[in-house]
This record gives sequence, structure tokens and C-alpha cells, in this order.
Amino acid sequence: MAFSETEKLPAPEHIAIIMDGNGRWAKNRGLPRTAGHKAGGEAFRRIANYCRTLGVKYLTVYAFSTENWKRSQEEVAGIMKLLARYLEEALRDMEKNAVTFRFFGDLSRLSPELRKLCREAEERSSQYHEVQVNFCLNYGGRDEIVHAAKAFAADVVEGKRQPEELTEELLSSYLYSADVPDPELIIRPSGEKRISNFLLWQSAYSEFVFMNVLWPDFGPADLDEAIAEYHRRNRRFGGV
Ligand code: IPE
Ligand code: IPE
Ligand code: MG
Repeated sequence: MAFSETEKLPAPEHIAIIMDGNGRWAKNRGLPRTAGHKAGGEAFRRIANYCRTLGVKYLTVYAFSTENWKRSQEEVAGIMKLLARYLEEALRDMEKNAVTFRFFGDLSRLSPELRKLCREAEERSSQYHEVQVNFCLNYGGRDEIVHAAKAFAADVVEGKRQPEELTEELLSSYLYSADVPDPELIIRPSGEKRISNFLLWQSAYSEFVFMNVLWPDFGPADLDEAIAEYHRRNRRFGGV
């Protein structure tokens, strides 16, 4: 395939993003951290829309990790409130946006109200077949694998499965991401170069693009740049 610099490169089917840098963005402006999360929410809306225009099938975003509970109660409450507002709005505009929602993570630790919004968004949006947004909420890659192992063990105890049956494919089907192909591209803005417990299983062969922009400033041009970088990589999957 030959593309000129100005021609749009085809987008990967599945893009995952660690939406990081909200706090620093706010600090740079002398604003409270919550203001950074609000601006981060706006960046998410922009990028989700843009992914739809690019024809991306799956967009997985890291919104709150199993480790993020370590933050102040005020910050956690602020993030949860923004998430609830976003989901209320998404439910209201569901037909217009036609986005399918899935939630990856242990939702049992969320408030009953937020959990209900997640469930409603998942149920009501399952009829759409354009872009699917996988929201990672109280998500941890290790927690996801432990959760899958427990569910498989329970099936063995119930006699539904045999231990010898377990394969990579079968274990994948117990993950929060069951039925979703692995992301080809994982983007981390904010300058940090680590995975922070995101998609540990699914990222086995993903291409990582680390960028210096803070998430609230992230726009379509940054996504274009990450996709262009992805196309410059030589994916070998262990071959030659
Ligand atoms: C990411 O931004 C949002 C969440 C983790 C919820 P941060 O809040 O981690 O921003 P920095 O890393 O402190 O700048
Ligand atoms: C990762 O960012 C989690 C999310 C973006 C939701 P963090 O800011 O929590 O990660 P660390 O602490 O820098 O590793
Ligand atoms: Mg951070």
C-alpha cells in the first residue's frame, strides 16, 4: 500500500487510549484537578466522534483504574459525577449518536446509580452497529484476569467445564473484553511511558504510541499522528 503524506491512512479496527494528563493540564492552569477531568471528558467526546468518522469499530478508553481509588475522596467523587453526567447525556442522545457502549471493569464498587446508568447504556445501545466504546471503569488488567480465572473455576466446579479444556481463546471469553478483538494500537498521551495495568492480556501484540500531549489537549490531529506512526511500524507477531 502506498500513501502520500496528505492522504488519510486507514484507521485500525480497534484503538485503545489511556486518557492521562488531566491533573497536570489543570495544574498548569492553576485550576482544581476536577477541572482537568471535565476537560478530559470533552476530549473524549471529540475523539469518540472522530473515531466514528474514521470508521474505527472499537474504541477502548481507560477512564478509572482499580488503583485510582487512592486519590482524594473529593477527586474520586468529582470523576464519578462527571461519568454519571456523561452517561445521562449519552442515554438522552442515544439515537443521534448510535454508539454502542460496553463497560470493562468491576462495576460492583461503583454507586448503585452509576451502575444503573452503565447497565442502561449497555442494554439500550446494543442495537447499534457502528462504533463501540468500551469504557474501562474500576478496571485493572490483573483484576480482569483474576475475575476470569474465578469464573472459569466456578464453571469447572459446576461441571460445565473441564480444566484441560482451557485455551487462550477460552480464557479470553471470560474477560471483560469477550468478543472484542485485541487492540492494534494503544495510545498513551501525557508523556508517561508505562501501561498502568491497562489491557495486560489484550495488549500482547499491540503497537504502543506514547505522546507528550496532555489528554485534555488531545485532538483529531493527534489521533492522525498516532495512526500514521502505527502505519510506520513493522508488525511481525513473532515471525520474520
Ligand atoms: C487521567 O488523568 C485521569 C484519571 C486517571 C482518572 P490524571 O488525573 O492521572 O492526570 P495526571 O497524570 O495527574 O496529570
Ligand atoms: C492510568 O493513569 C489510569 C487512567 C488514565 C484511567 P494513572 O495516572 O492512574 O497512572 P499512573 O499512576 O501514572 O501510572
Ligand atoms: Mg495520571
